[in-house]
Amino acid sequence: MPFCEYVSKMPEKTTILKGFSKLSSEEKLLVAAGHCTDPAAAESDLRSFHHQDHDIQKILSGISENTITNYPLPYNVAPNFLINGQMYMVPMVIEESSVVAAASSAARFWAERGGFQAKAGKLIKKGQLHFLYAGDVEKLKGAMPVIVKHLKESTRTLTRNMENRGGGIASIELKDQQSIIDNYFQLDVRFDTRDAMGANFINSVLEEYAAALNAFLYKTKGFDERDFEPLMAILSNYNDECLIEVSVSCKVDALEVATAAMPAGDFLRRFVMAVNIAESDVYRATTHNKGIMNGVDAVILATGNDFRAIEAGAHAWAARSGQYRSLSKARVDGKQFTFSLEMPMALGTTGGLTHLHPLAARSLEMLGKPDARKLMMIAGAAGLANNFAALRSLVTTGIQTGHMRMHLSNIILKIKASSEEAKRIKKHFANKKVSYQAVVSYLEKLRKHAT
Ligand code: MEV
Repeated sequence: MPFCEYVSKMPEKTTILKGFSKLSSEEKLLVAAGHCTDPAAAESDLRSFHHQDHDIQKILSGISENTITNYPLPYNVAPNFLINGQMYMVPMVIEESSVVAAASSAARFWAERGGFQAKAGKLIKKGQLHFLYAGDVEKLKGAMPVIVKHLKESTRTLTRNMENRGGGIASIELKDQQSIIDNYFQLDVRFDTRDAMGANFINSVLEEYAAALNAFLYKTKGFDERDFEPLMAILSNYNDECLIEVSVSCKVDALEVATAAMPAGDFLRRFVMAVNIAESDVYRATTHNKGIMNGVDAVILATGNDFRAIEAGAHAWAARSGQYRSLSKARVDGKQFTFSLEMPMALGTTGGLTHLHPLAARSLEMLGKPDARKLMMIAGAAGLANNFAALRSLVTTGIQTGHMRMHLSNIILKIKASSEEAKRIKKHFANKKVSYQAVVSYLEKLRKHAT
């Protein structure tokens, strides 16, 4: 459909736009702006977020599809993350200001108490070829050693580079899933993707396995490829071998200054109780884990990784016992307090966006060019830091005191107060409840008195 036809059809919001993806990005911008109440203002707004450097805009537009502009989020840093004895300045991309403030404050608190101890597990990611097989099952099972050899040989061109980097196919197993669906089987494949998250690599190999298995059944006596129906080939985001464990620990007495709001003993009792509640109450566990993901996702976004993949895996891991539980644990052994986090964290420091997005590359540089294991531990430490800070507030002052301070700054921005007015508003609301209306009324009063 020519561009002018798109535009002429625009008032009818029910029109199906065919071939939209073939329009130029300029045309797409105009069509999209036409869906706003003031298309000219929208067009100008959307354009104003184009990157001034044409080469960078080309990269950003190339990353995704139907891109018409950029959507900037704040790029923040949280200093003082001491992890396994090394200090990091941690980049965090997130719009929730209290998250960065909380991460920074908790990082500093724990840096003064030995920092985070962290471990990362194997770099093993999972993938599955789901298929139906209507032939002789015992025969298929018996042929697996030959099939595995054949699959590996058939995909050597895809796996060679990964093998040269020390990774590759860790195992291929046939899983009989006929108890779920008649004739249903899986090839359950474990991939060692080294420092890459490896999604494309895994999916390409799995798709090739479907073709290779078909070819094997076709050419091998006693098998019939017509018994085989590949259903889907895809990685799993449940990477239960690619785990991180991060913990902080200190003498109970060293918590004395954790909060001015109450004595250390009370704080500790209430903190441990809060974690235990998240162990058994799903409503609380979900929010508790959201607080962890605040820190984790912000690091993942800043380093060009896929936060949806980590989210999905984290929540599946949290529910592995059959009940959704807290990802973190708190305990007191005698006089020692320990707070820890264990979760899957399949991140990469090579491939994908990690070096393509200029700011992801900068983030990795800021972190000292970590390998995948280090990045996994850093993201985990950010998660535990945020969890600690959230619980510290919740069981003492409540989170609204801190949140409202941040919220006040957003309101000041929104109502376009001058810097002098902002100062007076902050002073006025230092010990008062903040609400949008209250701030607007106070500003009106200020302005009235000024005239
Ligand atoms: C807000 O983004 C996160 C918290 O709700 C987490 C929690 O409740 O533990 C404060």
